[in-house]
Amino acid sequence: MQLKQKIIKDKLPKHVALIMDGNGRWAKQRGKERVFGHENGVNAVKQTVEAAGEIGIPYLTFYAFSTENWDRPKEEVDTLMELLVKAIQTETETLNKNGVRLKAIGDLNSLPKKCYEELAEAINITSNNDKITVVIALSYSSRYEIVEAVKNISDLVKSERINTKEIDQKMFSSFLQTNEFPDPDLLIRTSGEQRISNFLLWQLAYSELYFTPVLWPDFNKEHFYEAIIDFQSRERRFGKTE
Ligand code: FPP
Repeated sequence: MQLKQKIIKDKLPKHVALIMDGNGRWAKQRGKERVFGHENGVNAVKQTVEAAGEIGIPYLTFYAFSTENWDRPKEEVDTLMELLVKAIQTETETLNKNGVRLKAIGDLNSLPKKCYEELAEAINITSNNDKITVVIALSYSSRYEIVEAVKNISDLVKSERINTKEIDQKMFSSFLQTNEFPDPDLLIRTSGEQRISNFLLWQLAYSELYFTPVLWPDFNKEHFYEAIIDFQSRERRFGKTE
């Protein structure tokens, strides 16, 4: 039986978040520069979006670039930004045809102008699609996002537009950049590292974590289905008993 057929249709995660790790190691294994790994990582993104679309998962979030990634060598940062622009330019039409709505979270103002503009355009073009929402986390830091939310709520309290008593988890979530997306049910991290790395710290509170040794450029539909099947075997309790 094919892996895909083993997936239980009414027990799908609504939202899968992915930490795409291992591009550098994948390139090194082949005696190439790190950027070669990133280039090949784009294909794994496509495979994942297609796989999620085929089984009907409505939200995917990809951690494409963290705030800390700005400290990588300039050449690598430039290539990653160019790759992103190129991927957006070549894929927007396909995304649109397949009902994909593109979204982005992170400090988007820190992106190079060209990258920001292409991204904004693709987000705009795909804004009415409703089959699957693909969120790209770019120049993203979860701690930064949380601190910004605290600042915004504090301003509202200070100007007496809200009362401290009104602040609860639901309200706090609404001040995060992810406010229109459900929390991820599943986090997948490739390359064998078992860390969250400042990604969606608040939103991952009750997510199932799945770590695979596969390096991101090798990640394909079958690997994605394996993760979904593993997720479906877990008992989610959300802090309660069975
Ligand atoms: C981590 O591997 C990967 C990244 C920092 C970048 C991921 C970006 C892409 C796959 C580019 C395309 C993205 C989209 C959404 C079109 P690493 O460099 O940390 O690998 P290492 O741990 O082996 O060094």
